[in-house]
Amino acid sequence: MERDSFVVAVVGATGAVGREMLKTLKARNFPACEIIPLASSRSAGTKVPYGDDELVVRELGEHSFEGVDIALFSAGGSVSEEYAPIAARSGCVVVDNSSAWRMDEETPLVVPEVNPHDLDWHKGIIANPNCSTIQMVVVLKPIHDAATIRRVVVSTYQAVSGAGQKAMDELTDQVKKMYNFDMESIDPKYFQYRIAFNCLPHIDRFLENDYTKEEMKMVHETRKILGDDSIGVSPTAVRVPVYIGHSESVNIETVDKLSARDCRALLSQAPGITVQDNPEENIYPMAIEAVDEDATFVGRIRDDETIANGLNMWIVADNLRKGAALNAVQIAETLVERELVRVP
Ligand code: A2P
Repeated sequence: MERDSFVVAVVGATGAVGREMLKTLKARNFPACEIIPLASSRSAGTKVPYGDDELVVRELGEHSFEGVDIALFSAGGSVSEEYAPIAARSGCVVVDNSSAWRMDEETPLVVPEVNPHDLDWHKGIIANPNCSTIQMVVVLKPIHDAATIRRVVVSTYQAVSGAGQKAMDELTDQVKKMYNFDMESIDPKYFQYRIAFNCLPHIDRFLENDYTKEEMKMVHETRKILGDDSIGVSPTAVRVPVYIGHSESVNIETVDKLSARDCRALLSQAPGITVQDNPEENIYPMAIEAVDEDATFVGRIRDDETIANGLNMWIVADNLRKGAALNAVQIAETLVERELVRVP
C-alpha cells in the first residue's frame, strides 16, 4: 500500500548542512509525520529550528533508527560508515551526504535530474554526491545525451561553507583581523594557509597522483552518475573566500558538434537549470545571487574556438542547497514517488 507520511531523522542536524536539510524538508512540505534531529552528545537537548517550531536534538545511538523510515545523514564520513548500516538494518532508508558510500558498488549515487532510475536498485543506503559534482552533472547530462561528452576540464571556485561552520567562522575572523591591520594575530587553523583574500588550490588531502581527493571525487563520481566510464574529467579544485555558492569554469569536448547557441537552447529546457547568459547586458551567474536558490545556474556559454567540438561555460549553485541538502531531500522525494521507501 502506498504510504503518505514518513518518520524522518536528520543526522548532524546542528551542522551547516543538517540545518539546511531541516529548512528544505519544511519548505518543500515533505510528507513527514515526525522529524527527529540527531547529533552528538555535545548538542543533545539543544534545539534546532524547523519552520516556526523548534525541535529538541537527540544523541545519535544504535537505537536511534527504530521506527524511522528515512534518515538524511550529514555528520561526516566516520559517522556514516558506522551508523548508516545500523540504520539500514533497522529498515530505515539512508540518504548519506558524506563520501563514505559514494563509490561503493552496492550504493546508488544519485542526482534526481540525472539518474533517478539508479534508486531502483538501492539496498538501504543511497549516496548524495560531492557538491561540486552535483552542479556539474546537472549541466553535463543534457549535453551528454545530445552530443556525447568525451572530456571535461573543470576548475572550481568553492565556498568555505563546504568545509562546515568552523571554516566560515575562520574566514570571518581573518577578515576582521585584516580590516584592523592585525595581520600578526592571524593564525590559520581550519585551512592550512590564510583564506581571507586568498585562493587555496587544495581541498581535502593530496593523493599519490598529486591530485586532491576532492578532485578525484569529481572524476569518479561524474562517471558513476552519468553511467559512462569513458568520460575524461580533468579537475582543479580551489577554495575561495566566498561564504556560500560554488562556481565552476567548465570546458567540454563532445563527440558530436553542439554549438554554443544550441547548447543554450538545450540547457534552458533542462530540469533544474536556469540559464543566465547575456553578455550584452552583463548577465552571467554569480555566487552571491545563487544563495538560497534551488537552481543550478549556467552562463558564459561559448564555443571553444581551439577545437572542433568544444564548449566553455560557467556553472554556479548554492553548495549547501543543491550541492547538499536539497539534492538529499529531492532523493527522498523521488524515493516516495517511486514507492522505494523500504529496505529490500
Ligand atoms: P554536534 O553539533 O553535536 O557536534 P558541520 O559539518 O557543520 O561541522 O556539522 C557536523 C554535524 O555532525 C553536527 O551536527 C555535529 O553535531 C554532527 N556530528 C559530528 N560528530 C558526530 C558524532 N560522533 N555523532 C553524531 N553527530 C555528530
